[in-house]
Amino acid sequence: MAATAAAALALAATVAVVSLAAPNGVAAAAKAPPRTTYFQDVKPILDGRCTGCHVDGGIAPLPLSTYAEALAARNAVAQAVRVRAMPPWHARRGVRRYLHDPSLTDGQISAIVRWARNGAPRGDAVRPGKPVRPIPTGLSRVDVRLPMPEPYTPKHGAGHDDYRCFPLDWTPGATTYVTGVDIAPGARAVVHHIIVYLAPPASASTVAQWDAADPEPGYRCYGGPSADGRQGLGINFLAGWAPGAGGSDFPAGTGQRVVPGSRLVMQVHYNVTSTAPRPDRSTVRLSLAPSVERRAVYLPVVDLGWVLSPQTFRLPARRRGIVHTFTGDPTPVVRYLGGFDPARGFTMHSAALHMHRLGRTARLVVQRASGRHELLLEIPRWDFDWQRDYRFAKPVAFAPGDRLSLRCTHDNTTRRLVTWGEDSSDEMCIGFVYVAER
Ligand code: HEC
Repeated sequence: MAATAAAALALAATVAVVSLAAPNGVAAAAKAPPRTTYFQDVKPILDGRCTGCHVDGGIAPLPLSTYAEALAARNAVAQAVRVRAMPPWHARRGVRRYLHDPSLTDGQISAIVRWARNGAPRGDAVRPGKPVRPIPTGLSRVDVRLPMPEPYTPKHGAGHDDYRCFPLDWTPGATTYVTGVDIAPGARAVVHHIIVYLAPPASASTVAQWDAADPEPGYRCYGGPSADGRQGLGINFLAGWAPGAGGSDFPAGTGQRVVPGSRLVMQVHYNVTSTAPRPDRSTVRLSLAPSVERRAVYLPVVDLGWVLSPQTFRLPARRRGIVHTFTGDPTPVVRYLGGFDPARGFTMHSAALHMHRLGRTARLVVQRASGRHELLLEIPRWDFDWQRDYRFAKPVAFAPGDRLSLRCTHDNTTRRLVTWGEDSSDEMCIGFVYVAER
Protein backbone atom coordinates (compact mmCIF):
# COMPACT_ATOMS: atom_id res chain seq x y z
CA MET A 1 0.00 0.00 0.00
CA ALA A 2 2.53 2.55 1.14
CA ALA A 3 4.85 1.66 -1.73
CA THR A 4 2.08 2.11 -4.27
CA ALA A 5 1.14 5.46 -2.81
CA ALA A 6 4.77 6.59 -2.90
CA ALA A 7 5.13 5.46 -6.49
CA ALA A 8 1.98 7.35 -7.47
CA LEU A 9 3.28 10.46 -5.73
CA ALA A 10 6.64 10.16 -7.46
CA LEU A 11 4.92 9.77 -10.81
CA ALA A 12 2.76 12.81 -10.15
CA ALA A 13 5.84 14.80 -9.21
CA THR A 14 7.60 13.75 -12.41
CA VAL A 15 4.65 14.78 -14.53
CA ALA A 16 4.46 18.10 -12.73
CA VAL A 17 8.16 18.80 -13.26
CA VAL A 18 7.99 17.86 -16.92
CA SER A 19 4.97 20.00 -17.55
CA LEU A 20 6.57 22.90 -15.69
CA ALA A 21 9.76 22.57 -17.71
CA ALA A 22 8.14 22.83 -21.11
CA PRO A 23 4.66 22.96 -22.55
CA ASN A 24 5.63 20.05 -24.81
CA GLY A 25 6.38 17.51 -22.07
CA VAL A 26 7.28 14.65 -24.42
CA ALA A 27 10.00 16.55 -26.27
CA ALA A 28 11.51 17.85 -23.03
CA ALA A 29 11.66 14.34 -21.56
CA ALA A 30 13.38 13.02 -24.69
CA LYS A 31 16.06 15.73 -24.43
CA ALA A 32 16.80 15.23 -20.72
CA PRO A 33 20.28 13.74 -20.12
CA PRO A 34 20.12 9.93 -19.86
CA ARG A 35 20.02 8.63 -16.32
CA THR A 36 23.15 7.04 -14.95
CA THR A 37 22.18 3.42 -14.36
CA TYR A 38 23.79 0.23 -13.20
CA PHE A 39 23.52 -1.72 -16.45
CA GLN A 40 24.38 1.12 -18.80
CA ASP A 41 27.12 2.92 -16.85
CA VAL A 42 28.28 1.28 -13.65
CA LYS A 43 28.45 -2.44 -14.38
CA PRO A 44 30.86 -2.00 -17.32
CA ILE A 45 33.26 -0.14 -14.99
CA LEU A 46 32.92 -2.65 -12.15
CA ASP A 47 33.40 -5.58 -14.56
CA GLY A 48 36.42 -4.00 -16.23
CA ARG A 49 38.16 -2.65 -13.11
CA CYS A 50 36.84 -4.33 -9.95
CA THR A 51 35.45 -7.85 -10.26
CA GLY A 52 38.87 -9.36 -10.95
CA CYS A 53 39.22 -9.14 -7.14
CA HIS A 54 35.68 -8.34 -5.94
CA VAL A 55 34.08 -11.66 -6.80
CA ASP A 56 32.90 -14.62 -4.73
CA GLY A 57 36.02 -16.47 -3.68
CA GLY A 58 38.23 -13.55 -4.82
CA ILE A 59 40.79 -11.73 -2.71
CA ALA A 60 38.58 -8.75 -1.90
CA PRO A 61 35.95 -8.78 0.86
CA LEU A 62 33.05 -7.37 -1.10
CA PRO A 63 31.66 -9.12 -4.22
CA LEU A 64 30.52 -6.62 -6.88
CA SER A 65 29.34 -8.86 -9.72
CA THR A 66 25.58 -8.41 -9.50
CA TYR A 67 23.17 -5.50 -9.23
CA ALA A 68 22.13 -6.55 -5.73
CA GLU A 69 25.77 -6.61 -4.58
CA ALA A 70 26.60 -3.25 -6.14
CA LEU A 71 23.39 -1.71 -4.76
CA ALA A 72 24.16 -2.89 -1.24
CA ALA A 73 27.75 -1.56 -1.45
CA ARG A 74 27.00 1.65 -3.39
CA ASN A 75 28.11 4.13 -0.75
CA ALA A 76 31.35 2.32 0.05
CA VAL A 77 32.02 1.92 -3.68
CA ALA A 78 31.40 5.60 -4.39
CA GLN A 79 33.65 6.60 -1.50
CA ALA A 80 36.46 4.18 -2.51
CA VAL A 81 36.57 5.42 -6.10
CA ARG A 82 36.12 9.09 -5.21
CA VAL A 83 39.26 9.13 -3.06
CA ARG A 84 40.97 6.80 -5.59
CA ALA A 85 41.59 4.14 -2.96
CA MET A 86 40.26 1.65 -5.50
CA PRO A 87 41.29 0.10 -7.80
CA PRO A 88 44.65 -0.18 -6.01
CA TRP A 89 47.37 1.88 -7.73
CA HIS A 90 49.92 3.71 -5.66
CA ALA A 91 52.20 5.56 -8.09
CA ARG A 92 52.00 9.36 -7.97
CA ARG A 93 49.72 10.57 -10.74
CA GLY A 94 50.50 12.97 -13.53
CA VAL A 95 54.29 12.60 -13.52
CA ARG A 96 54.95 9.64 -15.76
CA ARG A 97 52.72 7.29 -17.73
CA TYR A 98 52.79 3.60 -16.82
CA LEU A 99 51.44 0.60 -18.70
CA HIS A 100 48.40 -1.29 -17.40
CA ASP A 101 47.28 1.58 -15.16
CA PRO A 102 43.81 0.53 -13.97
CA SER A 103 42.93 3.94 -12.49
CA LEU A 104 39.46 5.18 -13.30
CA THR A 105 39.02 8.28 -15.43
CA ASP A 106 37.41 11.35 -13.87
CA GLY A 107 34.33 10.58 -15.98
CA GLN A 108 34.07 7.02 -14.65
CA ILE A 109 34.43 8.22 -11.08
CA SER A 110 31.73 10.85 -11.43
CA ALA A 111 29.40 8.31 -13.09
CA ILE A 112 29.69 5.96 -10.10
CA VAL A 113 29.31 8.78 -7.56
CA ARG A 114 26.29 10.20 -9.42
CA TRP A 115 24.69 6.76 -9.66
CA ALA A 116 25.09 6.08 -5.95
CA ARG A 117 23.79 9.50 -5.02
CA ASN A 118 20.71 9.23 -7.27
CA GLY A 119 19.37 6.07 -5.69
CA ALA A 120 21.49 3.57 -7.66
CA PRO A 121 18.95 2.89 -10.46
CA ARG A 122 19.12 -0.49 -12.14
CA GLY A 123 18.56 0.46 -15.78
CA ASP A 124 17.85 -2.01 -18.55
CA ALA A 125 19.71 -5.33 -18.45
CA VAL A 126 18.79 -6.00 -22.07
CA ARG A 127 20.80 -3.00 -23.30
CA PRO A 128 24.08 -3.14 -21.36
CA GLY A 129 26.60 -0.31 -21.66
CA LYS A 130 29.82 -0.55 -23.67
CA PRO A 131 32.37 -2.79 -21.89
CA VAL A 132 35.42 -1.14 -20.34
CA ARG A 133 38.49 -2.79 -21.80
CA PRO A 134 40.14 -4.99 -19.14
CA ILE A 135 43.80 -4.56 -18.19
CA PRO A 136 45.74 -7.11 -20.26
CA THR A 137 47.50 -9.78 -18.24
CA GLY A 138 49.21 -13.08 -18.85
CA LEU A 139 52.00 -14.45 -20.96
CA SER A 140 51.99 -14.74 -24.72
CA ARG A 141 53.50 -18.21 -24.30
CA VAL A 142 53.99 -20.58 -21.34
CA ASP A 143 57.04 -22.86 -21.48
CA VAL A 144 57.30 -24.12 -17.89
CA ARG A 145 54.73 -24.51 -15.14
CA LEU A 146 56.22 -24.68 -11.66
CA PRO A 147 53.71 -25.54 -8.95
CA MET A 148 54.62 -25.44 -5.26
CA PRO A 149 56.12 -28.90 -4.61
CA GLU A 150 53.19 -29.68 -2.26
CA PRO A 151 50.11 -27.89 -0.93
CA TYR A 152 50.47 -25.67 2.14
CA THR A 153 47.71 -24.56 4.51
CA PRO A 154 48.47 -21.08 5.89
CA LYS A 155 48.25 -20.47 9.63
CA HIS A 156 46.75 -17.72 11.71
CA GLY A 157 49.82 -16.03 13.17
CA ALA A 158 50.10 -13.83 16.24
CA GLY A 159 48.60 -10.74 14.62
CA HIS A 160 50.63 -11.35 11.48
CA ASP A 161 49.85 -12.81 8.14
CA ASP A 162 51.66 -15.95 7.12
CA TYR A 163 54.69 -15.37 4.84
CA ARG A 164 56.14 -18.50 3.35
CA CYS A 165 58.91 -19.29 0.86
CA PHE A 166 58.81 -22.34 -1.41
CA PRO A 167 61.88 -23.41 -3.39
CA LEU A 168 60.66 -24.62 -6.78
CA ASP A 169 61.79 -27.78 -8.52
CA TRP A 170 63.40 -26.34 -11.58
CA THR A 171 66.92 -25.67 -12.55
CA PRO A 172 67.85 -25.48 -16.21
CA GLY A 173 70.56 -27.72 -17.65
CA ALA A 174 71.98 -24.80 -19.65
CA THR A 175 71.90 -21.03 -19.30
CA THR A 176 68.32 -19.97 -19.99
CA TYR A 177 66.57 -16.60 -20.14
CA VAL A 178 63.27 -15.94 -18.43
CA THR A 179 61.28 -13.73 -20.81
CA GLY A 180 58.07 -13.48 -18.80
CA VAL A 181 56.50 -14.52 -15.51
CA ASP A 182 52.89 -15.17 -14.63
CA ILE A 183 51.46 -16.55 -11.43
CA ALA A 184 48.34 -18.59 -10.81
CA PRO A 185 47.37 -18.41 -7.15
CA GLY A 186 45.97 -21.74 -5.97
CA ALA A 187 43.53 -20.60 -3.29
CA ARG A 188 42.66 -17.06 -4.37
CA ALA A 189 40.87 -16.21 -1.15
CA VAL A 190 44.00 -16.62 0.98
CA VAL A 191 46.81 -15.68 -1.44
CA HIS A 192 47.52 -11.99 -1.14
CA HIS A 193 50.84 -11.53 -2.92
CA ILE A 194 53.53 -13.61 -4.57
CA ILE A 195 57.13 -12.67 -5.33
CA VAL A 196 59.58 -14.85 -7.21
CA TYR A 197 63.28 -14.68 -6.33
CA LEU A 198 66.25 -16.17 -8.08
CA ALA A 199 68.91 -17.73 -5.87
CA PRO A 200 72.16 -18.09 -7.81
CA PRO A 201 74.09 -21.37 -7.47
CA ALA A 202 76.20 -19.96 -4.61
CA SER A 203 73.07 -19.41 -2.49
CA ALA A 204 71.15 -22.52 -3.60
CA SER A 205 72.44 -24.70 -0.76
CA THR A 206 71.48 -22.09 1.87
CA VAL A 207 67.95 -22.09 0.47
CA ALA A 208 67.90 -25.90 0.62
CA GLN A 209 69.02 -25.79 4.28
CA TRP A 210 66.24 -23.34 5.22
CA ASP A 211 63.74 -25.60 3.49
CA ALA A 212 65.04 -28.74 5.21
CA ALA A 213 65.11 -27.10 8.67
CA ASP A 214 61.36 -26.37 8.57
CA PRO A 215 59.16 -29.48 8.98
CA GLU A 216 56.28 -28.04 6.93
CA PRO A 217 56.32 -27.34 3.18
CA GLY A 218 58.69 -24.44 2.43
CA TYR A 219 59.98 -22.17 5.20
CA ARG A 220 58.96 -18.99 7.02
CA CYS A 221 60.31 -15.75 5.49
CA TYR A 222 59.22 -12.12 5.36
CA GLY A 223 60.64 -9.12 3.47
CA GLY A 224 62.79 -11.29 1.25
CA PRO A 225 63.49 -14.97 0.73
CA SER A 226 65.57 -15.30 3.90
CA ALA A 227 64.57 -17.59 6.78
CA ASP A 228 66.78 -15.88 9.34
CA GLY A 229 66.49 -12.23 8.37
CA ARG A 230 69.96 -12.21 6.82
CA GLN A 231 71.61 -13.72 3.77
CA GLY A 232 69.50 -11.55 1.49
CA LEU A 233 72.53 -10.56 -0.50
CA GLY A 234 73.08 -12.53 -3.66
CA ILE A 235 69.45 -13.40 -4.13
CA ASN A 236 67.81 -11.54 -6.99
CA PHE A 237 64.30 -10.38 -7.53
CA LEU A 238 62.91 -12.16 -10.60
CA ALA A 239 59.34 -10.97 -10.71
CA GLY A 240 56.90 -9.14 -8.50
CA TRP A 241 53.27 -10.01 -8.69
CA ALA A 242 50.28 -8.38 -7.05
CA PRO A 243 46.67 -9.30 -7.60
CA GLY A 244 45.31 -7.08 -10.32
CA ALA A 245 48.80 -6.53 -11.72
CA GLY A 246 48.78 -10.02 -13.21
CA GLY A 247 51.81 -11.48 -14.91
CA SER A 248 53.20 -10.44 -18.25
CA ASP A 249 55.95 -10.83 -20.78
CA PHE A 250 59.06 -8.83 -19.92
CA PRO A 251 59.69 -6.00 -22.42
CA ALA A 252 60.08 -7.37 -25.94
CA GLY A 253 63.50 -8.82 -26.74
CA THR A 254 64.65 -8.85 -23.10
CA GLY A 255 65.09 -11.64 -20.56
CA GLN A 256 66.78 -12.45 -17.26
CA ARG A 257 69.55 -15.00 -17.18
CA VAL A 258 69.24 -18.18 -15.10
CA VAL A 259 72.43 -20.22 -14.90
CA PRO A 260 72.44 -23.97 -14.18
CA GLY A 261 72.32 -24.71 -10.44
CA SER A 262 70.13 -21.69 -9.58
CA ARG A 263 66.96 -22.09 -7.52
CA LEU A 264 63.73 -20.19 -7.92
CA VAL A 265 62.04 -19.29 -4.64
CA MET A 266 58.38 -18.36 -4.57
CA GLN A 267 57.39 -16.18 -1.62
CA VAL A 268 53.68 -16.23 -0.83
CA HIS A 269 52.02 -13.71 1.47
CA TYR A 270 48.92 -15.44 2.86
CA ASN A 271 46.17 -13.37 4.40
CA VAL A 272 43.94 -15.45 6.65
CA THR A 273 42.57 -12.70 8.90
CA SER A 274 39.14 -12.71 7.23
CA THR A 275 38.91 -16.18 5.69
CA ALA A 276 39.31 -19.69 6.98
CA PRO A 277 42.72 -21.12 6.14
CA ARG A 278 42.58 -23.52 3.22
CA PRO A 279 45.27 -25.43 1.38
CA ASP A 280 47.05 -23.55 -1.39
CA ARG A 281 49.16 -24.75 -4.23
CA SER A 282 50.12 -21.77 -6.35
CA THR A 283 51.94 -22.06 -9.65
CA VAL A 284 54.56 -19.93 -11.37
CA ARG A 285 54.48 -19.94 -15.16
CA LEU A 286 57.49 -18.88 -17.17
CA SER A 287 58.25 -18.18 -20.77
CA LEU A 288 61.85 -19.01 -21.62
CA ALA A 289 64.37 -18.50 -24.41
CA PRO A 290 67.87 -19.93 -24.95
CA SER A 291 69.08 -16.42 -25.82
CA VAL A 292 67.69 -12.88 -25.99
CA GLU A 293 68.48 -9.74 -27.97
CA ARG A 294 69.03 -7.70 -24.84
CA ARG A 295 69.95 -9.17 -21.46
CA ALA A 296 68.10 -7.69 -18.52
CA VAL A 297 68.08 -7.76 -14.74
CA TYR A 298 66.21 -6.24 -11.83
CA LEU A 299 68.74 -3.75 -10.55
CA PRO A 300 68.48 -3.25 -6.78
CA VAL A 301 68.99 0.39 -5.79
CA VAL A 302 70.12 0.39 -2.17
CA ASP A 303 72.90 1.59 0.10
CA LEU A 304 75.11 -1.47 0.54
CA GLY A 305 76.16 -0.01 3.89
CA TRP A 306 72.62 -0.58 5.21
CA VAL A 307 72.65 -4.19 4.05
CA LEU A 308 76.12 -4.99 5.40
CA SER A 309 75.82 -3.02 8.67
CA PRO A 310 72.11 -3.07 9.63
CA GLN A 311 72.76 -0.71 12.57
CA THR A 312 73.55 2.12 10.14
CA PHE A 313 69.90 2.15 9.03
CA ARG A 314 68.25 3.49 12.18
CA LEU A 315 64.64 4.30 12.97
CA PRO A 316 64.64 5.60 16.57
CA ALA A 317 61.61 4.66 18.70
CA ARG A 318 58.48 6.84 18.38
CA ARG A 319 59.98 9.09 15.73
CA ARG A 320 58.05 10.16 12.61
CA GLY A 321 59.20 11.33 9.21
CA ILE A 322 62.62 9.66 9.35
CA VAL A 323 64.37 10.13 6.02
CA HIS A 324 66.93 7.84 4.39
CA THR A 325 68.49 8.63 1.06
CA PHE A 326 70.99 6.99 -1.21
CA THR A 327 72.46 8.18 -4.50
CA GLY A 328 74.87 6.18 -6.57
CA ASP A 329 76.16 5.06 -9.94
CA PRO A 330 74.50 1.67 -10.56
CA THR A 331 76.78 0.75 -13.46
CA PRO A 332 79.03 -1.69 -11.52
CA VAL A 333 75.98 -3.47 -10.06
CA VAL A 334 74.39 -3.80 -13.50
CA ARG A 335 77.65 -5.25 -14.83
CA TYR A 336 77.88 -7.73 -11.95
CA LEU A 337 74.26 -8.88 -11.74
CA GLY A 338 73.23 -8.51 -15.37
CA GLY A 339 76.33 -10.07 -16.85
CA PHE A 340 76.54 -7.41 -19.59
CA ASP A 341 78.65 -4.36 -20.19
CA PRO A 342 76.70 -1.16 -19.46
CA ALA A 343 79.56 1.17 -20.47
CA ARG A 344 77.34 2.89 -23.08
CA GLY A 345 74.42 3.09 -20.65
CA PHE A 346 71.30 0.95 -20.52
CA THR A 347 67.53 1.14 -20.81
CA MET A 348 65.19 1.29 -17.81
CA HIS A 349 61.78 -0.34 -18.31
CA SER A 350 60.07 -0.41 -14.93
CA ALA A 351 60.49 0.43 -11.27
CA ALA A 352 59.31 -0.90 -7.92
CA LEU A 353 59.89 0.25 -4.36
CA HIS A 354 60.11 -1.87 -1.25
CA MET A 355 59.79 -1.10 2.46
CA HIS A 356 58.02 -2.86 5.33
CA ARG A 357 55.05 -1.73 7.42
CA LEU A 358 56.61 1.42 8.90
CA GLY A 359 57.28 2.90 5.44
CA ARG A 360 55.42 6.11 4.64
CA THR A 361 56.68 7.49 1.30
CA ALA A 362 59.32 6.44 -1.21
CA ARG A 363 60.68 7.65 -4.51
CA LEU A 364 63.22 6.82 -7.12
CA VAL A 365 64.81 9.48 -9.33
CA VAL A 366 67.36 9.49 -12.12
CA GLN A 367 69.82 12.37 -11.70
CA ARG A 368 71.17 13.31 -15.10
CA ALA A 369 74.82 14.26 -15.54
CA SER A 370 73.43 17.72 -16.47
CA GLY A 371 71.97 18.05 -12.96
CA ARG A 372 68.38 17.56 -14.11
CA HIS A 373 66.20 15.20 -12.04
CA GLU A 374 63.59 12.85 -13.56
CA LEU A 375 61.17 10.98 -11.36
CA LEU A 376 60.90 7.28 -12.17
CA LEU A 377 58.44 6.32 -9.46
CA GLU A 378 57.01 7.89 -6.34
CA ILE A 379 54.70 6.22 -3.83
CA PRO A 380 53.18 9.11 -1.89
CA ARG A 381 51.22 6.85 0.50
CA TRP A 382 53.06 3.61 1.09
CA ASP A 383 50.95 0.51 1.63
CA PHE A 384 52.85 -2.68 2.36
CA ASP A 385 49.92 -4.73 1.08
CA TRP A 386 50.03 -3.29 -2.41
CA GLN A 387 53.54 -3.58 -3.78
CA ARG A 388 54.05 -3.95 -7.49
CA ASP A 389 56.22 -3.20 -10.45
CA TYR A 390 55.30 -0.07 -12.43
CA ARG A 391 56.23 -0.43 -16.09
CA PHE A 392 57.02 2.80 -17.94
CA ALA A 393 54.86 3.50 -21.00
CA LYS A 394 58.09 4.74 -22.65
CA PRO A 395 61.43 3.17 -21.63
CA VAL A 396 63.91 5.61 -20.05
CA ALA A 397 67.57 5.77 -21.11
CA PHE A 398 70.33 5.72 -18.50
CA ALA A 399 73.48 7.41 -19.84
CA PRO A 400 77.02 7.16 -18.45
CA GLY A 401 77.42 9.86 -15.79
CA ASP A 402 73.78 9.62 -14.65
CA ARG A 403 72.99 8.44 -11.13
CA LEU A 404 70.01 6.85 -9.41
CA SER A 405 68.67 8.35 -6.23
CA LEU A 406 66.43 6.71 -3.66
CA ARG A 407 64.55 8.38 -0.82
CA CYS A 408 62.35 6.72 1.81
CA THR A 409 60.52 8.10 4.81
CA HIS A 410 59.41 5.97 7.74
CA ASP A 411 57.28 6.54 10.83
CA ASN A 412 58.53 4.42 13.68
CA THR A 413 55.37 4.16 15.73
CA THR A 414 56.85 1.37 17.90
CA ARG A 415 58.60 1.69 21.24
CA ARG A 416 61.89 0.25 20.10
CA LEU A 417 64.74 1.07 17.78
CA VAL A 418 64.18 -0.54 14.39
CA THR A 419 67.09 -1.30 12.07
CA TRP A 420 67.65 -2.89 8.68
CA GLY A 421 66.64 -6.48 8.03
CA GLU A 422 64.32 -8.89 6.29
CA ASP A 423 62.21 -9.79 9.30
CA SER A 424 58.74 -8.35 9.93
CA SER A 425 60.19 -6.46 12.91
CA ASP A 426 62.92 -4.89 10.74
CA GLU A 427 62.70 -2.26 8.01
CA MET A 428 64.01 -1.69 4.51
CA CYS A 429 64.30 0.88 1.73
CA ILE A 430 65.08 -0.53 -1.70
CA GLY A 431 64.27 0.35 -5.29
CA PHE A 432 64.20 -2.16 -8.13
CA VAL A 433 64.61 -1.11 -11.74
CA TYR A 434 64.24 -3.53 -14.65
CA VAL A 435 67.20 -2.61 -16.83
CA ALA A 436 68.21 -4.01 -20.21
CA GLU A 437 71.18 -3.73 -22.55
CA ARG A 438 70.92 -0.94 -25.06
C1 HEC B 1 43.55 -5.92 -7.32
C2 HEC B 1 42.41 -6.29 -6.57
C3 HEC B 1 41.31 -5.26 -6.40
C4 HEC B 1 40.73 -4.49 -7.37
C5 HEC B 1 41.03 -4.49 -8.86
C6 HEC B 1 39.76 -3.68 -6.70
N1 HEC B 1 39.76 -3.94 -5.36
FE1 HEC B 1 38.57 -3.07 -3.95
N2 HEC B 1 39.57 -4.08 -2.51
C7 HEC B 1 40.51 -5.06 -2.71
C8 HEC B 1 40.93 -5.59 -1.43
C9 HEC B 1 41.94 -6.68 -1.23
C10 HEC B 1 40.22 -4.89 -0.45
C11 HEC B 1 40.30 -5.06 1.08
C12 HEC B 1 41.61 -4.64 1.62
C13 HEC B 1 41.99 -3.24 1.26
O1 HEC B 1 41.15 -2.34 1.44
O2 HEC B 1 43.11 -3.04 0.80
C14 HEC B 1 39.38 -3.95 -1.15
C15 HEC B 1 38.52 -3.07 -0.54
C16 HEC B 1 37.51 -2.37 -1.20
C17 HEC B 1 36.44 -1.63 -0.55
C18 HEC B 1 36.25 -1.52 0.94
C19 HEC B 1 35.52 -2.75 1.38
C20 HEC B 1 35.17 -2.75 2.83
O3 HEC B 1 34.87 -3.84 3.31
O4 HEC B 1 35.24 -1.70 3.44
C21 HEC B 1 35.66 -1.13 -1.54
C22 HEC B 1 34.40 -0.31 -1.38
C23 HEC B 1 36.26 -1.50 -2.80
N3 HEC B 1 37.36 -2.25 -2.56
C24 HEC B 1 35.76 -1.15 -4.04
C25 HEC B 1 36.42 -1.42 -5.22
C26 HEC B 1 35.98 -0.91 -6.51
C27 HEC B 1 34.73 -0.07 -6.73
C28 HEC B 1 36.87 -1.34 -7.43
C29 HEC B 1 36.92 -1.04 -8.90
C30 HEC B 1 36.75 0.33 -9.29
C31 HEC B 1 37.88 -2.13 -6.73
N4 HEC B 1 37.56 -2.14 -5.40
C32 HEC B 1 38.95 -2.75 -7.34
C33 HEC B 1 40.99 -5.48 -3.92
C34 HEC B 1 40.69 -4.91 -5.14
